[in-house]
Amino acid sequence: MIKSKGISDMINDGTGYILEGKERGDYVFEPPFEAPQKGTSVIKGNEVVMLTSNNYLDLSTHPEIIEAEKKALEKYGTGTCGARLHNGTTILHTQLEERCAEFFQTEAAVITSAGYLANLAAISAVAAGDEAMIITDQLNHMSIVDGNALSGAKIRIFSHNDVNKLRYILERNQDCLKKLIVVEGVYSMEGDLAPLDKVAELAEEFGVSILVDEAHSMGFIGKNGRGAAELFGVEDKIHMRMTTFSKSLANVGGCIATDKKTALYIKHHAHPYIFNASMPPAIVAGVLKAFDVMEKEQYRVEKLWENTIRFRSGLIEMGFDTMGSTSPIVPIYIGDDQKNMSVTKELLHEGVYIATAIFPAVPQNESRLRATITASLNEQQIDYALGKIEKIGKKYNII
Ligand SMILES: Cc1ncc(COP(=O)(O)O)c(C=O)c1O
Repeated sequence: MIKSKGISDMINDGTGYILEGKERGDYVFEPPFEAPQKGTSVIKGNEVVMLTSNNYLDLSTHPEIIEAEKKALEKYGTGTCGARLHNGTTILHTQLEERCAEFFQTEAAVITSAGYLANLAAISAVAAGDEAMIITDQLNHMSIVDGNALSGAKIRIFSHNDVNKLRYILERNQDCLKKLIVVEGVYSMEGDLAPLDKVAELAEEFGVSILVDEAHSMGFIGKNGRGAAELFGVEDKIHMRMTTFSKSLANVGGCIATDKKTALYIKHHAHPYIFNASMPPAIVAGVLKAFDVMEKEQYRVEKLWENTIRFRSGLIEMGFDTMGSTSPIVPIYIGDDQKNMSVTKELLHEGVYIATAIFPAVPQNESRLRATITASLNEQQIDYALGKIEKIGKKYNII
């Protein structure tokens, strides 16, 4: 009999250097924050400039949102202790679905307990089974990749933003009548936009539906912040608009805005919707209030873009490769994982926090620092961080 070593056989996946790093005290993941995340925060007693947070519009500490959550907490208690189809729906959940639909100008919306679950739910329910085909960008977020896998559909991958490849796939698969194209409005690790005008044109030509993940575009891209579909003027051509409440709206939860029939279909077919406890009512109240604040306080969007341009142009002037980013997600390409983690660690010592993005968040050997800029930062904080990035970039021969 050959005896298995059990779990140690199962978790041997070649990322041992991360464990070794942890043993050496060299671990750059999960830094324990001790304060709210604004332009700065505190890690292990030290103040750091926050160059990684999806709190794009600086709403996470907004007094009106906190007050709304407190009231709902007192009224409804901590959790619903149930899934949406049973006891997990409060009047607030229904209001938030209506608010999402109103925001995206769709007939209906489905909310889920996480953005990750929104992609999983929509994709796996709509494109279920091997008669369906999902045509997906190579760099789509893991929630899309996992949704694709859960659906059981045939998967075709096109190179990042390559509409010629997308056309080729559509031409070769005309006999498959259930096709869904999935793209991101803004790509989460690159910060570039999908060419949604061209994608929508192709989808229309071949009669295919599209899901757009607007997680990193909602709130600040498009005239009314409705994301890349609004920016490209193709909202009426997108069948499902996915977003998350964990970024611009500074909370947690996700949403699929779509037509009434599709929304109801998702609710009764998507396992990640049916078999998952609903969002706590206080969180729902916070998200509802965050929608109001986001729409009312437009200066936050201007500040976000001002900060983004200051940071990104500073990096480009110094000679860093920002990977064609045109959004508040600003990657700094490094390539080598170890070097990336050392740079992150040194930056932390210098009072600058930027997350390390390594495989599987990005393709192997394409690791990078992934900065996300927020409206909370001021010019002094950005310039301080740029100075430190330049110093360490030179030390590691990145520039
Ligand atoms: C593009 C994209 N889609 C979906 C998600 C999942 O959202 P959440 O973290 O709110 O579950 C993320 C989160 O990182 C994301 O970047």
